[in-house]
Amino acid sequence: MQTVKLAIAGFGTVGTGLARIIEENEDVILARCGKKFKIASVLVRDLKKQRDFLLGPGAQLTDNIEEFTSCPDVDIVVELMGGITAAFDIVKKSLKSGKHVVTANKHLLAEHGIELFEIARENGVGLYYEASVAGGIPIIQAIKESLAANRIKSIVGIMNGTANYILSEMSTNGLEFDTALSQAKDLGYAEADPTFDIEGIDTAHKLVVLIRLAYGKDYPLAKLPVEGITRIEGQDILFARDLGYRIKLIGQVRDVGGKLEAGVFPALVKYTLLLARVGGNYNAVRVEGNAVGPSFFHGQGAGSLPTGSAVMADIMALSGSKTPDNTGFNNSPITKAEILAPELA
Ligand code: NDP
Ligand code: HSE
Repeated sequence: MQTVKLAIAGFGTVGTGLARIIEENEDVILARCGKKFKIASVLVRDLKKQRDFLLGPGAQLTDNIEEFTSCPDVDIVVELMGGITAAFDIVKKSLKSGKHVVTANKHLLAEHGIELFEIARENGVGLYYEASVAGGIPIIQAIKESLAANRIKSIVGIMNGTANYILSEMSTNGLEFDTALSQAKDLGYAEADPTFDIEGIDTAHKLVVLIRLAYGKDYPLAKLPVEGITRIEGQDILFARDLGYRIKLIGQVRDVGGKLEAGVFPALVKYTLLLARVGGNYNAVRVEGNAVGPSFFHGQGAGSLPTGSAVMADIMALSGSKTPDNTGFNNSPITKAEILAPELA
């Protein structure tokens, strides 16, 4: 039986979630793909930090990037560290050395996706990223494969678990913004810099990733109108509730005669709509295709095991795949992006 060796850069919320899934679901994973998975190397920043998960014998734990990237016989490199500096170097180097890469890093993909997918293509390896958008929800797989026969008319979603957790807790339990944010951090939902979550930047990164996949176009981040939730007060939420609405942080894009309108903004969502009912760290993405009509995807958008689940699905797909499919990232970027006023469809 083949054992697939993994090198994991980053062993925090998502990295340890992945390790737990590999250990606890070993039998299911083996039955589904006929392979065993072994963690060969793990890169962290602080070797002295107390870890929730004990690595097996023979696994290397290092804080040295050189040592990590030169670990022998690694089949798949998994980037779960975040940021776009060291992560970029590791992903690039791994792809160039002919290794498949799995990442949950939407920031990296939004900023450097075009270049990295080109490198992956040149080297005949896969760069998979299911966990980068909406955590455990299989939205990448859905757009790339299940909805592949459709022209995508629109994508509208709640794509940040931290922001949704804050808005839900303010609305349901009357929590202060800062208290809810602090809880989201403790629960492992927030980015290393939570400004990304609450200012809508993380949602913008995810939207850019989805736009490339759905439309084959590079929507420049700098041109995306982005507004977060930091100006929302408890009072706003109460007024909205009284009027039958919920306030949600929405990321959306729609195709208007070949031009894309996109934006990230807090919106009043009528309580009768499914999007309004999405609570806690959950995300939801509504994709409308011209053939299938609207499809609605709902699930945990952040957290250790939900995100680890998406990462592991990519690892399993790549470990059996001979011709990796990086669909959606090898198209020519658009030369002109005209941005129209964003409004909820
Ligand atoms: P954490 O902060 O929990 O973990 C990051 C890990 O990376 C830590 O183990 C840290 O080391 C290590 N690390 C960071 N920078 C370096 C560096 N320069 N050199 C060596 N090691 C480094 O992050 P998460 O697990 O929450 O997130 C990881 C990635 O997954 C991010 O890209 C995030 O956006 C994405 N993601 C996160 C989700 C979530 O719910 N948390 C959901 C979906 C995607 P040390 O432990 O020593 O500090
Ligand atoms: N910080 C992100 C969120 C993690 O809260 O949605 C999942 O991408």
